[in-house]
Amino acid sequence: MANKAPQQEIVLGNSTTTNNGGIRSTFQSLVLVLTTIVVVTAIYLTQEGGEWFEESISSSSIVEESKCNMFKGKWVFDNITHPLYKEKECTYMSDQLACEKFGRKDLSYQNWRWQPHQCDIPRFNATALLERLRNKRLVFVGDSLNRGQWISMVCLVESSVPPALKSMSTIANGSLSIFKAIEFNASIEFYWAPLLVESNSDDPTNHRVPDRTVRVNSIQKHAKHWTDADILVFNTFLWWRRSAMNVLWGSFGDPDAVYKKVGMVRVYEMALRTWSDWLEVHVNGSKTQLFFVSMSPTHQRAHEWGGVKGENCYKETDLITQEDYWGNGTFPSMMRVVENVLEDLKSRGLNVQMLNITQLSEYRKEGHPSIYRKQWEPLTEEQISNPKTYADCIHWCLPGVSDTWNELLYAYIFHQ
Ligand SMILES: *[C@@H]1O[C@H](CO)[C@@H](O)[C@H](O)[C@H]1NC(C)=O
Ligand SMILES: *[C@@H]1O[C@H](CO)[C@@H](O)[C@H](O)[C@H]1NC(C)=O
Ligand SMILES: *[C@@H]1O[C@H](CO)[C@@H](O)[C@H](O)[C@H]1NC(C)=O
Ligand SMILES: *[C@@H]1O[C@H](CO)[C@@H](O)[C@H](O)[C@H]1NC(C)=O
Ligand SMILES: *[C@@H]1O[C@H](CO)[C@@H](O)[C@H](O)[C@H]1NC(C)=O
Ligand SMILES: *[C@@H]1O[C@H](CO)[C@@H](O)[C@H](O)[C@H]1NC(C)=O
Ligand SMILES: *[C@@H]1O[C@H](CO)[C@@H](O)[C@H](O)[C@H]1NC(C)=O
Repeated sequence: MANKAPQQEIVLGNSTTTNNGGIRSTFQSLVLVLTTIVVVTAIYLTQEGGEWFEESISSSSIVEESKCNMFKGKWVFDNITHPLYKEKECTYMSDQLACEKFGRKDLSYQNWRWQPHQCDIPRFNATALLERLRNKRLVFVGDSLNRGQWISMVCLVESSVPPALKSMSTIANGSLSIFKAIEFNASIEFYWAPLLVESNSDDPTNHRVPDRTVRVNSIQKHAKHWTDADILVFNTFLWWRRSAMNVLWGSFGDPDAVYKKVGMVRVYEMALRTWSDWLEVHVNGSKTQLFFVSMSPTHQRAHEWGGVKGENCYKETDLITQEDYWGNGTFPSMMRVVENVLEDLKSRGLNVQMLNITQLSEYRKEGHPSIYRKQWEPLTEEQISNPKTYADCIHWCLPGVSDTWNELLYAYIFHQ
């Protein structure tokens, strides 16, 4: 997982386009009509002293959102409303992300709330989400970062479901994990496909292969497990972060198969084209809500944020305060690829909303498990004497940063 990132020049995206172009155009005509409703609602709410977002989830927030980029904002320390759940109380917490359980003492990483500049994020309401998911499937598809977001989502809703009315199961050789809220017949699932397309890293447990190979044109083996979902949340980035990838045309084991090395950005684009072509043909955009979670940043090199060279996120307890900070491990070129693929898909009639969490997560150098997680292999003497060598600066402690991604996802699920 923790590949050495190829050195690459950083080009900070100074794009001034808003994220919500999609919503804007879709709802442009609605806006006029809704504005009237909103003004009336607003006056009503002001008189009632009610919270804007909570009470007016249906109509007004569409307008709110069309002028609000929720991904631009700041972190606010807020130990009243955050964390949204307690680590110990989440039945399905993962030992990979349970930082408090594994000895972390500074717990302020649980208390940061994302505050967009121009609007508020609606308060997460587990019951409302389960109602929305009644008889439906919400499926996260991707790598371990996406799995972390799935666990966060399960933790966010499961406390409001009594033990007898929830279940967790795994099928498809361990690739598909399913949380069910039985009373609602609602399921929140995770499907392991770290590169989205087929690869030799598709085994959900044994995926550390020395030479990674990707079948860049093949996705059906995975897609058949989630094509009929009602809400799909994809990600893929970290596993591509190497200068070139071994690409296979043909099947594994086929003597006539063709292998070739393809550069990082190009092979990423090929895979995402395969993915988007699949969606175009197999997914009904009026039935299914689609999301793509942008790159999750890593904090493996402290000198990038002005720290000591050779250090990483180990022992970090504060946020990065430099405005628009962007690390060297998150490639704007890769984000451009995603943007282009989504744009093309939209022109062909299918809208995938990007959850643009890269920038906001960049500030959170203290949010990673570091050494406070379960270690799968016993530590060596050398590691023990120098803890930073085994610090995980990729994943995110829970409760923590991934909860915010889900608060944003929640907002879009209701407002799209
Ligand atoms: C996502 O955010 C980055 C950095 O804030 C920005 O450069 C990029 O244009 C945004 N992309 C989309 C699709 O909103
Ligand atoms: C919240 O943080 C403030 C400031 O650090 C502290 O004084 C207070 O005790 C905290 N409250 C809770 C409930 O943790
Ligand atoms: C949460 O949503 C449910 C169902 O929509 C609603 O009955 C309840 O009042 C909401 N709770 C809060 C705190 O807004
Ligand atoms: C339960 O949810 C599934 C989707 O997860 C759906 O296919 C099925 O029809 C639902 N069952 C009922 C009785 O509505
Ligand atoms: C599980 O793995 C076996 C052997 O690799 C394969 O034949 C089978 O199709 C897989 N099942 C599913 C549901 O993916
Ligand atoms: C797509 O889904 C909508 C809403 O469920 C339905 O009305 C429509 O017939 C579907 N279109 C196709 C081509 O299946
Ligand atoms: C990021 O990488 C570039 C290219 O290798 C390098 O010039 C630059 O100094 C790096 N920035 C930081 C802060 O490490």
